[in-house]
Amino acid sequence: WAIFAPYVIEINRLKKERNAVILAHNYMTPEIYHGVADFVGDSLQLAIKATEVENDVIVQCGVHFMAETSKILNPSKKVLIPDLKAGCSLAESITAEGVAEMRAKYPGAPVVSYVNTTAEVKAASDICCTSANALQIVEAMEGDTVIMTPDQFLAQNVAALSTKNIVWWAGSCIVHELYTAEDIRAYREFEPDTMVIAHPECTPSVVAEADFTGSTSGIVDWIHKNKPAKAMLVTECSMAANIADELPEVEFAKPCNMCPFMKKITLEKILWSLYNMEHEVVVDPEVAAKARLAVERMIDLSK
Ligand code: 13P
Ligand code: SF4
Repeated sequence: WAIFAPYVIEINRLKKERNAVILAHNYMTPEIYHGVADFVGDSLQLAIKATEVENDVIVQCGVHFMAETSKILNPSKKVLIPDLKAGCSLAESITAEGVAEMRAKYPGAPVVSYVNTTAEVKAASDICCTSANALQIVEAMEGDTVIMTPDQFLAQNVAALSTKNIVWWAGSCIVHELYTAEDIRAYREFEPDTMVIAHPECTPSVVAEADFTGSTSGIVDWIHKNKPAKAMLVTECSMAANIADELPEVEFAKPCNMCPFMKKITLEKILWSLYNMEHEVVVDPEVAAKARLAVERMIDLSK
């Protein structure tokens, strides 16, 4: 922590000077999560929080689609992202043309797009969802068939629980798709009492091995509530790192697949971002207005 202290002190000072707030995703490294974030959460919580911010500036410590969502929901604020290369394999997997292709293939079916998408894709969709509310949103759609984009595994995991006929786009998360059911079973042969907690971006065979599946904040809450003696978080590396200190009674197996996009955000870059007031995230107002409808519909249905 000593090496981080000068950055933490200066970032927290500059936040006050710029009247800025730091909204950070659960996958940020511990020095960001514990040291400089004003609010931490999953994608849904970050989106809801963005609507409530009264400060002049939001520094989004997460990936680009999260910063875009904040700008879409609170357009009068200056939204900064410390590194423009903080993308997402899901957001990159589909364009608005892809949504149009799905609509042509399944006429009349509503399009539910994961928030892990660009503003243009959100604007072309009927409603958004996150890993915290995907089933609830899909179930609320009219008609039998629902199009889910762009995460094929989230869609398949929802389909297993849904009454709807779900069709999907073939995108995936490069972090979660790497986990396999075989690896989990092999680990459990040696540590049979380990509780396996998975994110729904994992494949259905991994989810079938899990004792609990939920959004990143769902995972944090579950661990705090159940305090298992041994737990394996089948998700991005920083999750276990961020909560392990708060729960010394839980022994964490730490399988580690790192999100290279989330890890673009560092303390140094946050300081640079606040100092130079860059990189500002801008969304075309017409696109933003349509995308806002899709995100707000989701937030309304999640209440
Ligand atoms: P959550 O909404 O569960 O935080 O997930 C976001 C994400 O990018 C997971 O890979
Ligand atoms: Fe995207 Fe996967 Fe990284 Fe989340 S973990 S930001 S879904 S690439």
